[in-house]
Amino acid sequence: VKDDAEEKKFNNNTKDLLDIMAFYSRVSGSVGVITLQNPPVNALSAAVRQGIVDTMHRALSEPEVKSVVICGQNGKFCGGADIREFRANMRGPPLVPMIHLIEAAEKPVVAAIEGVALGGGLELALGCHYRIAHSKARLGLPEVTLGLLPGAGGTQRLPRLIGVPAALELITTGRHATAAEALQLGIVDEVTDHSAVDAAVKFAQSVAGKSLDARRISTYPCPRSPDLAEIFEKAMQEVRRSARGAIAPVTCVQAVHASVTLPYAKGMERERELFSTLFTSGQAHALQYYFFAQRAVSRWSTPSGARWDTSKPRPVHKAAVIGLGTMGRGITVSLAQAGLSVVAVETQEKQLLEAKQAVSGMLERSAKRRGAPLAHDKIKYSCSIQAVADVDLVIEAVFEDMALKKTIFQQLSGICKPGTFLCTNTSGLDIDELASQTQSPELVVGMHFFAPAHVMKLLEVVYGPRSSPEALATAMEMGKKMGKVSVAVGNCRGFVGNRMLKPYLEQAFFLLEEGATPEQVDQVLEEFGFAMGVFKVSDLSGLDVGWKVRKADGLVVPGSTGKSARIRGGSRYSPLGDLLCEQGRFGQKTGRGWYQYDKPGGRVAKPDPWLHGFLEEYRARHGLVARRIDHQEMLERCLYALINEGFQILQDGIAAGPEDIDVIYVLGYGWPRHRGGPMFYAGLVGLDKVLERLEHYHQVYPNVSGLKPCSLIRKLAASSSPPIHRWREFIQKPRSQL
Ligand code: 3HC
Ligand code: NAI
Repeated sequence: VKDDAEEKKFNNNTKDLLDIMAFYSRVSGSVGVITLQNPPVNALSAAVRQGIVDTMHRALSEPEVKSVVICGQNGKFCGGADIREFRANMRGPPLVPMIHLIEAAEKPVVAAIEGVALGGGLELALGCHYRIAHSKARLGLPEVTLGLLPGAGGTQRLPRLIGVPAALELITTGRHATAAEALQLGIVDEVTDHSAVDAAVKFAQSVAGKSLDARRISTYPCPRSPDLAEIFEKAMQEVRRSARGAIAPVTCVQAVHASVTLPYAKGMERERELFSTLFTSGQAHALQYYFFAQRAVSRWSTPSGARWDTSKPRPVHKAAVIGLGTMGRGITVSLAQAGLSVVAVETQEKQLLEAKQAVSGMLERSAKRRGAPLAHDKIKYSCSIQAVADVDLVIEAVFEDMALKKTIFQQLSGICKPGTFLCTNTSGLDIDELASQTQSPELVVGMHFFAPAHVMKLLEVVYGPRSSPEALATAMEMGKKMGKVSVAVGNCRGFVGNRMLKPYLEQAFFLLEEGATPEQVDQVLEEFGFAMGVFKVSDLSGLDVGWKVRKADGLVVPGSTGKSARIRGGSRYSPLGDLLCEQGRFGQKTGRGWYQYDKPGGRVAKPDPWLHGFLEEYRARHGLVARRIDHQEMLERCLYALINEGFQILQDGIAAGPEDIDVIYVLGYGWPRHRGGPMFYAGLVGLDKVLERLEHYHQVYPNVSGLKPCSLIRKLAASSSPPIHRWREFIQKPRSQL
């Protein structure tokens, strides 16, 4: 029976100390229930930790209380340490002694896990004597994704509880386990489909007074097996291979190793030591910045003042995809898996048949691998564009050809019911020009997916000058429904991602002209942490794609010789990509590109002696003398040209803030997450340093406009390089766009 007046008094006293963040109540007379209260995920802020310590002491001191339940408010146990507090001075009781207080208690403590038990949240639960989870709960130690390791005993308790191999896998990947898996692994003792709190209270009553000797995980010996050394060696190899330079996964393995080689108390010291090293690292800073950036992009705004919280999306139940090539197929799969009815249109009979088969295969594979819904019955195929008359939203994904896209938009404007949103998956064409083909230009937006569209997380949502806030909000919401991270960007050539790619690629070409090989440039970029170097990516996506665009722009002048061959519009131009395409070298699809492959469609890039000879002959023809270019120059020229364009994009109001650019580059372009994104990286290097190097390279190459520092980076550097969250204050508001 609860003693309400007393509880209020206690909770109010606690409130005097700090805001009350752990509520105490007594249930059925003998169970003390501690409820974490820190919406939205009950993160373990200083106040919550203080609340837990206070309420634990109270539960232990009340003679009527025989057992304790710890749970979280609003169906969420706990999302871990409060990440927002990491950059501030430490306040309140530390986590480790708080968890020891729970584990050492002489009354049984049961964790009632609903929603999530992540990071410090799971570590808190591991300090309890029993764990009961709801069947929908997710559990994990995702610290590695924040550049950390589980620093509240997770690396020492989890292997003791479930063994080294399973603990290593969970800790180094940071993945969330389902309640069923957690039960199978032995992380939880019971799973319920009903209220985990009710089940925990019942359970707590049943174990009251029983010995806790066998329930304190820190006292367990770490399970040993003869192949432990091999297990650690393999784990280390695997994290080194996949980490692309990230230090946290490697450090996680070292911390788990301590659980095997050291007694618990010493292991905890080692955990603390390793945690401190990571905590102050630039990588942890970058990953935590990225964690918030990925969430911040959903709070979009445009220069004209349209905003996420004042613009309402319209519901979309039925959508259409026009053009079932590489992109259209993936988009169809994504839409169907999100539960929408889809009309998939492809005018050529043969292509339609192929597409049907491909889409079915994609649905089946993602059902098998990720448990995605099969959703075959959500899709209707058609050869006729007339089939889209009653849909709420269309995504056009035909060839990148303005004339063709214009015709399609004219047709759609006539066929679709009034109010249908008309979206294009163009990689960079003018949204406004397409909008002008329709009767309702306000309904037109870009939805730029990335290949493969049913897998890649990024969606650039492009608003033109006439797109309505409602159209933008609807496309953003659709992206979310499809499980994407949607970033709103303004309309310009290449939008954000592809626009920044241009000066980056250009520098890579120039480096080849000056003496580098594709292998050298790629190696430098891969050592930096890119999943693939620029030339390997180019081979993968097809050299012909950029060639077509350059041809349409009048940049490709076949057979041009002398100085003019390498100049366009007064700026330096490298025709190397065009020359390769003229030879039919389109990359992986033709088995030859910047590298050679064993066959057309081959995946393994091998250096190509033909290409090296071709580069030598090219340099000789143009009077270029090859020189040895050091790693630093290669990296700086590629990255700083890209970053400079990023600042120009901010200045032009195409991206609302640096977070938008960083999320686009990490999710869409293989930028290493542990470096935060290009704009964050620029801040980390130092804006004055980036500016100084750009100025230097621009002096050496005055006819390369991409190296001319843009005025925003100058302005920021002149204002003592403010931290990244203050950059927006320095961007002049461009003219209204919506
Ligand atoms: N600290 C501070 N804020 C947090 C947080 C945390 N641990 N977890 C989530 N939030 C915030 C988010 O920033 C977001 O705030 P916003 O709305 O202002 O942007 C809000 O809570 C809601 O988060 P989501 O939008 O992500 O909500 P979802 O319901 O989609 O996801 C979640 C919930 C799965 C808990 C997800 O937020 C998540 O993965 N959180 C991080 C979990 C984590 O990494 N915990 C480990 C922390 S480090 C640690 O514990 C160290 C210890 O070992 C010592
Ligand atoms: P693709 O060449 O694989 O497919 C285009 C499809 O459109 C073909 O199947 C073609 O038959 C069909 N088509 C042509 N005219 C049509 C019409 N009138 N009606 C119906 N279908 C028609 O091209 P891909 O790569 O899928 O690109 C499509 C669009 O997506 C382009 O605008 C491209 O720039 C963009 N994009 C491509 C990416 C990629 O990596 N391939 C990434 C992001 C965007």
